[in-house]
Amino acid sequence: MHGRDLISIADLSPQDVQRVVDTSLAMKNGHSSPVLKGKTLALLFEKPSLRTRVSFDVAMQQLGGHALYLSPAEVGLGEREPVADVARVLSRYVDAIAARTFKHETVEELARWADVPVINALSDGEHPCQALADLLTIYEKKGRWQGLVLSFVGDGNNVARSLMLGSALVGMDFRIAAPRGYRISRALVDKAEGVGAASGAAIACVESPQEAVRGADVVYTDVWTSMGQEGERAERRRSFDGYQVNAELLALASPGAIVMHDLPAHRGEEIADEVIEGLQSVVFDQAENRLHAQKAVLALILGEEGA
Ligand code: CP
Ligand code: NVA
Repeated sequence: MHGRDLISIADLSPQDVQRVVDTSLAMKNGHSSPVLKGKTLALLFEKPSLRTRVSFDVAMQQLGGHALYLSPAEVGLGEREPVADVARVLSRYVDAIAARTFKHETVEELARWADVPVINALSDGEHPCQALADLLTIYEKKGRWQGLVLSFVGDGNNVARSLMLGSALVGMDFRIAAPRGYRISRALVDKAEGVGAASGAAIACVESPQEAVRGADVVYTDVWTSMGQEGERAERRRSFDGYQVNAELLALASPGAIVMHDLPAHRGEEIADEVIEGLQSVVFDQAENRLHAQKAVLALILGEEGA
């Protein structure tokens, strides 16, 4: 992964994902050294963030480097200055760029023009860093991926897309229940099926949350209204009626199923309070793992010994 961009989780091989998870676990167990001494990461964010911003910043500090946060107002990506110029200027100062953008094309364009690695810190297309932390969490809780079923209930959004591709890479079955109009595109499902053919992962898109969740080992949901879609909130609440992960739905999953959510959550919409606060919820372990996974990604991409 040394020197490479991370724009989609599908940029990684199954071996890369395993290396990220193994490195994350080693770092979580206290084996981390200042491998990024003297390195600087620019955090170029067009949207708000708690987990991603803080975990990148703390990860750089813990690895001996540092992060520089650049707010949307300061940079005016594509407005004050073209994306290509921002990428080329930043490449002269910093060792890597983590970018959170509205359009997926913006993070792709940054990567095209930057001379340093660009990491997708969430775009409207994907959230690969979240999916890596999620795969780490599942591996920790269940000890494996193969033979497990991850069921995603809700919007076929950035988080769902990266999870689908990530599941396909590691051989975990992925089922998604989304209403018509909010599904993952056929082209991307085809891509995941292609990846899954090699790892043994089955991909299924269904309409009924009950069908998706039945017997699942991991029940995952994310907000119905993502950042930038606030104007559609009322319409989305109507469209996703019946797609809430609540105790009744969770009862259909495997008895030992874990409940995951990338956060922030809209309690009472995609997830009921009783579930997110319930015994099967691992959402705060999952949030913590953003830090460990981020450290691994940064060390592997930026570290001198990164593979
Ligand atoms: N899960 C996640 O990416 O959270 P933030 O938007 O707070 O970074
Ligand atoms: N789908 C959400 C994820 C937030 C971490 C969004 O894009 O707003």
